[in-house]
Amino acid sequence: MRVVQEKLFAEKRDVRKLNIMKSPKRGGSCDVDSLPYLGELGVSIVENKRPIQFTPNINELIHRWAPYVQGFSASFVQSVLDRYSRDYEHPVIFDPFAGCGTVLVQAKLNGFKSLGVEINPLLHFLADTKLNCWDVSAEQLLKVCNSMPRNRRSQAPTFLKSSSHFSERVLRNLEIIKGGIESIKTGSDKCKRTNNLMKLAFASILVDCSKLKRTPCLGYWRSKRVHATAPFVLLNKKIHEIADDLRLIRSQYKDFIRIDSEITHENAMHFKPPHKFDLVITSPPYMNGLDYVMNYKIEMGWLGFAISHKELKKIKDDMVVCDNVSKGLIRDFQRTRTSYTNEWIEEIKSKIEKNIIRRGAYRRKDMPYIVHKYFDDLYRVMKNITPSLNHRGRFIMVIGDSLIADVYIPTDLLIAKMGLDLGLRIEQIERARDRRSGQIRSYKLRETVITLQRR
Ligand SMILES: C[S@@+](CC[C@H](N)C(=O)[O-])C[C@H]1O[C@@H](n2cnc3c(N)ncnc32)[C@H](O)[C@@H]1O
Repeated sequence: MRVVQEKLFAEKRDVRKLNIMKSPKRGGSCDVDSLPYLGELGVSIVENKRPIQFTPNINELIHRWAPYVQGFSASFVQSVLDRYSRDYEHPVIFDPFAGCGTVLVQAKLNGFKSLGVEINPLLHFLADTKLNCWDVSAEQLLKVCNSMPRNRRSQAPTFLKSSSHFSERVLRNLEIIKGGIESIKTGSDKCKRTNNLMKLAFASILVDCSKLKRTPCLGYWRSKRVHATAPFVLLNKKIHEIADDLRLIRSQYKDFIRIDSEITHENAMHFKPPHKFDLVITSPPYMNGLDYVMNYKIEMGWLGFAISHKELKKIKDDMVVCDNVSKGLIRDFQRTRTSYTNEWIEEIKSKIEKNIIRRGAYRRKDMPYIVHKYFDDLYRVMKNITPSLNHRGRFIMVIGDSLIADVYIPTDLLIAKMGLDLGLRIEQIERARDRRSGQIRSYKLRETVITLQRR
């Protein structure tokens, strides 16, 4: 049985290699393949390369509290705020895919009111803690950390392979910290917020304490060695980092501590904003992007945001779809009425379908419907929020395009087209970064900032 399976895998691998070698897209580029779509929209793409990704945030006030691979850089958000916020009297900012809250935190640091939505309970918690614990004093946090008991060990999450993720002694020390945090009193709101900061700090050291790394997917790092005391050392360092930032907030951002910054734990596809806003600054998951849930399963498990793989799957199924979603979800989508399609989507679907047949093997036969569901999901979100955008308000989205089964998908231009269908105007489409297709490395893709405006 095993031999047959291995032979099948090897054959599939060979077919895949052959398909890549024979691909008509080798050496190609999104620039050429976008031309007909750009012509139809009557727009062109402006060059404006800049660092958009989270990495530099590891040195930034508040943003550095919790690492998040898929986030924006604070400097990118600031550049958008600098460019547009003066167009509004009291700008209100909204992010329907808030992640770890980069947009909302940066808005608050500028004294702007903001609202966000995030479906992942861990990310919602991290963003909420980064936004709404500014009134905790550094001394209070350090006192709680220093007085945490070390004799209340609490078990690691049982559904995760914790004994593979961590060495035995590291694991024991993490369980001691977990027990200590669980025993902190949370009677008043302030105590709850202090406890949340402890939990956030704990979450943000877990991968560093493990035998794993994110590159950006979570995977084992064979040569990694972690000292048994790392959990205490790293937690202490993180808490001091947060305490330093709390002191700076008190001295330099005191007036903004009470600014209204709310993040809701909901599905943006069903969320109806409770008030109007001026600037949407956001980035949804990319179609062939990471598995956000599996990538953060360790933190989700240890903080109790998921107690089983079934729960993780449920969170993933409710998210905007990506190309490793469950087959059942796509079957259901095929059966139900879609809320959106257009001639570009239909053409792309039929080309993918034909190419999958021509190739003889493809990772997912239901790929045309995954692509369709992706745009259907995004349309739902855009449709919900467009009516709440003030007159002349802007919808700014960062997005990457894709190449699937030798078919180019101009995700940015499709979003722009959806915007037009919803009555928005295309103000600008900027190329922020060049990317490479994961399938055909020689094919050039892009990351774009799309700015749509309410008329
Ligand atoms: C690219 S990340 C956004 C990162 C964010 N800009 C930041 O700087 O932290 C996309 C986020 O959308 C969230 N998401 C996916 N589907 C969602 C949905 N249906 N409703 C709300 N959030 C969703 C994911 O959990 C993920 O955190």
